[in-house]
Amino acid sequence: MLAQEIIRAKRDGQALDEAQINHFVRGLVDNSWSEGQVAALGMAVFLRGMGRDEAVLLTRAMMNSGRVMRWPDMPGPVLDKHSSGGVGDKVSLMLAPMVAACGGYVPMIAGRGLGHTGGTVDKLEAIPGYTTTPDPLRFDQIVRSLGCAIIGQTADLAPADKRFYATRDVTATVESVPLITASILSKKLAAGLEGLAMDIKCGNGAFASTPEFAKELAESIVAVAGGAGLKTRALITDMNQILGTDVGNSLEVIETIRYLKGEHREPRLHEVTLALCAEMLVLGGLAADTAAARVKLQAALNSGAAAEKFAKMVVALGGPADLMERPEAYLTAAPVVKPVAAPHAGVITTMSTRDLGVAIVELGGGRRKAGDAIDMRVGFSDVKPLGTRVAAGEPLALIHAADAAAADRAIASYLAACTLGEADVAATPMVMAEVG
Ligand code: URA
Repeated sequence: MLAQEIIRAKRDGQALDEAQINHFVRGLVDNSWSEGQVAALGMAVFLRGMGRDEAVLLTRAMMNSGRVMRWPDMPGPVLDKHSSGGVGDKVSLMLAPMVAACGGYVPMIAGRGLGHTGGTVDKLEAIPGYTTTPDPLRFDQIVRSLGCAIIGQTADLAPADKRFYATRDVTATVESVPLITASILSKKLAAGLEGLAMDIKCGNGAFASTPEFAKELAESIVAVAGGAGLKTRALITDMNQILGTDVGNSLEVIETIRYLKGEHREPRLHEVTLALCAEMLVLGGLAADTAAARVKLQAALNSGAAAEKFAKMVVALGGPADLMERPEAYLTAAPVVKPVAAPHAGVITTMSTRDLGVAIVELGGGRRKAGDAIDMRVGFSDVKPLGTRVAAGEPLALIHAADAAAADRAIASYLAACTLGEADVAATPMVMAEVG
């Protein structure tokens, strides 16, 4: 079989069969497909699409391109959540310990920041000592004993995706529904899950900017996961503003700790966290329905059980034992903190969320290129949500920066990204749609 014949078939709109797809995925891993051939097939799929059966075959082949984890003899269901990426999205940090406190087992393999979006692994690395690369045996032990562990991607899980994603990233073929589906699911299936909740972010801070694209992606992921034997529910959630009140790596860990301790739960962040956790408990048979699941989850928050799980996970992965009690001792503050003063009175009407994510990268809180170091201290706190009426001079948020010049640039970006209008803004639902 020749790579160019497989590319030709897809170029002409034909469905690929299992042997052709396996040839491609093998070629990704053993480099028998050249970079040009990988890029050409990616573009052919981008333009011609793939049927559901082809997407299932591609997902399975990519899953089997590396190690596939197994969780024999677990006392409870093995569950996870994946988000398509947003700004201020620290849901995973609360969700894993909350689900663990309700009897689930969450072996979460999370990602780093991508483009304007933050990454869970980067946030956890703001905690001194926390390792996101434990050896596989230790990861297994922590998940079994505590119920959750959040770590980074390992080289041996779905290596075909690693190469294909890197090529797609530089050949304008990322935004393809079957390719995103196979990319996300191959990694989740390789983690040996029994149930998956997908958070498809939708809006001006998300990768899926329209409800139509978000729905198409959600339907594809649910159908392909089902075809590959993984029970999945997808929620399409609003990403037209920053999620929660804080963005930036250390600041988001602090917001997480305050959330788990019950000191501060921003309502939209609370709603999306509860909604996704509830789906996971139902998928895992730990609650009869989402209403019963919410009662259980709220009890795990109120009793401190979820906070305790988080604290134990941090210690098991090398972090400080008193992080929950003294977060400020470990999560160092930025040297400069300045308010973004409203230029006039009005209602916060729109937020260009993607631009705010880019402003965080410019502050040093994300990477300009692969391998860059991140300044964990920088970001925004006390972010006022859409619909807030402010007086002239009142802060829209606080900027945390490495120096005064960077803070001033971020203030200008923040003001340019928000509009202040006259009329009240109707609240929009956090969960826009459910699929599966
Ligand atoms: N996240 C992934 O893991 N893969 C994609 O293709 C897009 C987002």
